[in-house]
Amino acid sequence: MQIFLDTANLEHIRHGVDLGVISGVTTNPSLVSKEGKVDYKALVKEICAIVPGPVSTEVLSQESAGMIAEAREITTWAENIAVKIPSTLEGLEATSVLARENVRVNVTLCFSLNQAMLAAAAGAAFVSPFVGRLDDIGEEGMQLVVDIVDYLRYYDLPTRVIAASIRHTSHCLSASKAGAHIATVPYKVLLQMIEHPLTDAGVRRFADDWNKVMGDSGILP
Ligand code: G3P
Repeated sequence: MQIFLDTANLEHIRHGVDLGVISGVTTNPSLVSKEGKVDYKALVKEICAIVPGPVSTEVLSQESAGMIAEAREITTWAENIAVKIPSTLEGLEATSVLARENVRVNVTLCFSLNQAMLAAAAGAAFVSPFVGRLDDIGEEGMQLVVDIVDYLRYYDLPTRVIAASIRHTSHCLSASKAGAHIATVPYKVLLQMIEHPLTDAGVRRFADDWNKVMGDSGILP
């Protein structure tokens, strides 16, 4: 499973890329707004220059014609743009038009298998089921990821599943077990993924054992 970062924060994106584990970024209008009143185009172009993979950038229009016009403009900003389009009727029409123009569309705000089936039929490159938001309303968010992955696999469809609205590390584990191609994670969750108290205790114990016998002499002079 590939790991994308779900943020528009440049510092966090740079750190994730420096760690060598991030193969894409997803943003949305809420995440961009968290960065204050920014030059949207300049910010997205900078993210695209840092990230070695697709950068999902969401349209703001709610009618298909506006979505299509925005998407056509956004795709001129960088080679690695993917355009996020919501799972609405208008979004479906926009996705079909854009997919035929070879625009990589990430169909977002997906909350049902029916929406995912239509996204795949329209030619979406990615579909993003929102796991955490389904959990929030008492549903089993990850079951949707399981169902979409099974569906795409059964019919051998090329749309890739991005498990989104990831809230904690257990979501990452279950997304990988579900066969999600990608999980897009908040920076905080990325940092939590590497943490384990036994690793920290082990590192301390190795250093203590070494120092007891060898003093603080290291391998390097
Ligand atoms: O990738 C979608 C994500 O940004 C939504 O997450 O936590 O706002 O539900 P959340």
